[in-house]
Amino acid sequence: MTGFFRQQGTLACDGVPLSALASAEGTPLYVYSAATIVERYRAIDAAFASYPHSLHYALKANSTMAIARLLRSLGAGADANSGGEIDVALRAGFLPSQIVFTGVGKTWLELALAIDLGVATINAESEGEIERIDRLATARQTRARIALRVNPDIDAKSHPHISTGLKTNKFGMPMAAAKAICRRFSSAAGVEIVGLHVHVGSQITDLQPLRAAAEAVVRLARELRDEGLVIDHLDLGGGLGVSYDGSPVPGVQEYADALLTAVRESGLHLVLEPGRHIVAPAGVLLSRVIDVKEQPGGKLFVILDAGMTELIRPMMYGAYHAVEPVAPTAAAEITCDVVGPLCETSDTIGKDRRFPRPSVGDLFAIRDTGAYSAVMASNYNRRLMPAEVLVEKGGWSVIRRRQTIDDLLALET
Ligand SMILES: Cc1ncc(COP(=O)(O)O)c(C=O)c1O
Repeated sequence: MTGFFRQQGTLACDGVPLSALASAEGTPLYVYSAATIVERYRAIDAAFASYPHSLHYALKANSTMAIARLLRSLGAGADANSGGEIDVALRAGFLPSQIVFTGVGKTWLELALAIDLGVATINAESEGEIERIDRLATARQTRARIALRVNPDIDAKSHPHISTGLKTNKFGMPMAAAKAICRRFSSAAGVEIVGLHVHVGSQITDLQPLRAAAEAVVRLARELRDEGLVIDHLDLGGGLGVSYDGSPVPGVQEYADALLTAVRESGLHLVLEPGRHIVAPAGVLLSRVIDVKEQPGGKLFVILDAGMTELIRPMMYGAYHAVEPVAPTAAAEITCDVVGPLCETSDTIGKDRRFPRPSVGDLFAIRDTGAYSAVMASNYNRRLMPAEVLVEKGGWSVIRRRQTIDDLLALET
């Protein structure tokens, strides 16, 4: 078994006690299990083994270099969402031909970078963006490979802030416009339309919208083929959710079966951009109790040294993350709000949680923080970014050192 399990009652990561990591590296601390990342990547890959496919790991979920390198070593490509993520991908050893470039508002500079590098595909978000790519590539006497990101107007039934497939969302171009756009650019000097792209949201736990989106692009690909416009791949994005609260979610094989049922007859190469599913359960955020405080007639608060600056998901999406004491205690159970130290009432990690009454200095693990956690951290209140450690082969390495106040102020005059 890989990941986070109790040994003699104490929570450990792949056999390394979390208390040892906190003593050596301090808190707050992001801890990742390399074995879990490997296992979860391989599980998705295996689920699609019966069909030609490529997995482009969505760097936006967690782009710490060592994590990106680990996924590259497993055979993943990269899905980059900005010039910065393209840079990280290159420095992590991905070849340009292994990078797909997505993003709803790519700048001229970012597009020029992607064209000059010759990335595998630019997932184009609008007709205007295709015009810009065409102009840049024509000036360079090259032809950029693009996929049309279509908006199928499908409700992903996820949190509205991470749903991207409705016509009221800013992403992609209308399905109805796609054919005319393909026709318009079919003989353009600077672009070659090689694929269709769709991504209807993240943390999706109902397979129906994912399947419906796949069926929509398969239908569009067939209509394009009937007009003599041939593409070579379908990119179905990421989106598969994980269970943050223990409720059942679809497994990778069910996910693969749902997509492949829609895609198989097309025979087109399948590209996927999974992020969260691979890394979320592979991480915890380790934190110490700063205070335990009761507001008379109000609530009991456990104040941690990690808050919205290290984990913004609860505040941003009302997301649930399990919070567990690292060591067992015999204290009586309490019901409390687990909060961070920031000057914001919304700096709350969990409400009405139950566990034995902790003492100041006790360690807590905030679970499933391998995705959309460290990458979304901020320096609000001049808080310093925590270190990140990767547990591997019975030991660990610091893959990102703790930020110092000098690091933070180095950019200021
Ligand atoms: C275009 C695109 N691809 C891939 C992903 C990764 O999604 P997830 O982490 O849910 O797999 C996202 C995230 O929302 C995205 O916007």
